[in-house]
Amino acid sequence: MKIDRIYFCVLALASLSAFALAARAAADGAPAASEATAASNAPAGDAEAGRRVFNRNCRSCHQVEAGAGSQLGPNLAGLVGRAAAADREFDYSPALQAAAGAGAVWDATALERFLAAPTKMFPGTTMPMAVGDATQRRDLVAYLATLSP
Ligand code: HEC
Repeated sequence: MKIDRIYFCVLALASLSAFALAARAAADGAPAASEATAASNAPAGDAEAGRRVFNRNCRSCHQVEAGAGSQLGPNLAGLVGRAAAADREFDYSPALQAAAGAGAVWDATALERFLAAPTKMFPGTTMPMAVGDATQRRDLVAYLATLSP
């Protein structure tokens, strides 16, 4: 009888700790799940941070004021919402012209994908700069959205 009770206690403890482990596993899983939700409902980027990233990495090739012309890269005034390859003064690669012909438009999703790996999205594009950091990409898009046409 005594041994039975001890046995019962050990069993109870074992199942309690199994329960605790399961609860911990569930808790460990929870942040991952909410991170996934956060990624899909990603908050808009920080336009001011994006402006700084742009000035450091993009400005040497891209003008952002309407009418300022193009440099090594096309003018990006009014970029968000505009068709790909739409700076008339700029001589785009056949790759980007084909994208425009297929109806590509620069919305936030397309831009984030392009900036992550330009040549993966449009093989043959001469846009050389990839941005590896997802937060910087979001911030850049928030900044680009402030550039009026
Ligand atoms: C060394 C020059 C250079 C740098 C630096 C550069 N770009 Fe570009 N970018 C280009 C060129 C050239 C093109 C045209 C690509 C083509 O015709 O295939 C381009 C195209 C683009 C386009 C497509 C524009 C359109 O009218 O369809 C976007 C958007 C863009 N760049 C954003 C950026 C951003 C954001 C950065 C900084 C992270 C950046 N670029 C850095 C040269 C550059």
